[in-house]
Amino acid sequence: MKNIVILTGAGISAESGLRTFRAEDGLWEDHPVEEVATPEGFARDPGLVQRFYDERRSGVMAAQPNPAHEALGRLDREFAGELLIVTQNIDDLHERGGANRVLHMHGEALSVWCTACDTRHRWEGTLLDGPPCPSCGQVSMRPDIVWFGEMPYRMNEIFHALSRADLFVSIGTSGAVYPAAGFVQHARENGAHCLELNLEESLGSRMFHETRLGKASELVPAWVGEVLG
Ligand code: OAD
Repeated sequence: MKNIVILTGAGISAESGLRTFRAEDGLWEDHPVEEVATPEGFARDPGLVQRFYDERRSGVMAAQPNPAHEALGRLDREFAGELLIVTQNIDDLHERGGANRVLHMHGEALSVWCTACDTRHRWEGTLLDGPPCPSCGQVSMRPDIVWFGEMPYRMNEIFHALSRADLFVSIGTSGAVYPAAGFVQHARENGAHCLELNLEESLGSRMFHETRLGKASELVPAWVGEVLG
């Protein structure tokens, strides 16, 4: 095995205390998703959306990586082949778990985007109080999050890596949101072995050659141990 692509979702951070999206009530931290995760929602009530992501930012900073993040950090350090960890998560727990080869396709809680001068800045504070952009001085900064209806980041790079992968591993994602939900099909059609690690069967489970059910904090360290021998 020379080339691994990993896709992670909210399930890998659940045991770090960050809530997943598809809870039974269909709400994300008590909000309908179209209120807080669409450009239309932001246009309608910017204060509500800024406050929502201010809370996500402080929640991410308070969370700690769990054994699943740490195992992927170990894989990144010790696996000599090509590796790309594509995450749908906006937290930085992969990085704090020691992984470097990480791509945030849905943006990052600790990054903000100035729509006036198109720069991005690392941000640990709030946006609700309307701070000026450090680059241009305009009050035009929004969360650097890919909302519904917007294009996920670095898709060409991701599909290129999927085309070349000999192993594709999906961890803790429900397979409900495209384009990420379609990665398994692309990897499989291009010859990758496809492995799913998840708490329960997902919408895409039948697309995988193998599904292992359980907690990420147990399944991921065990799988990394197998890969590294
Ligand atoms: P979901 O909340 O849809 O799915 C989380 C998955 O993790 C479910 O399949 C759970 O069974 C599984 N899970 C929960 N706890 C777990 C654990 N301890 N170990 C292993 N698996 C566990 O989250 P995502 O699939 O990440 O997009 O959601 C995808 C996207 O939808 C998000 O990136 C977000 C959201 O709308 C944007 O914000 C653009």
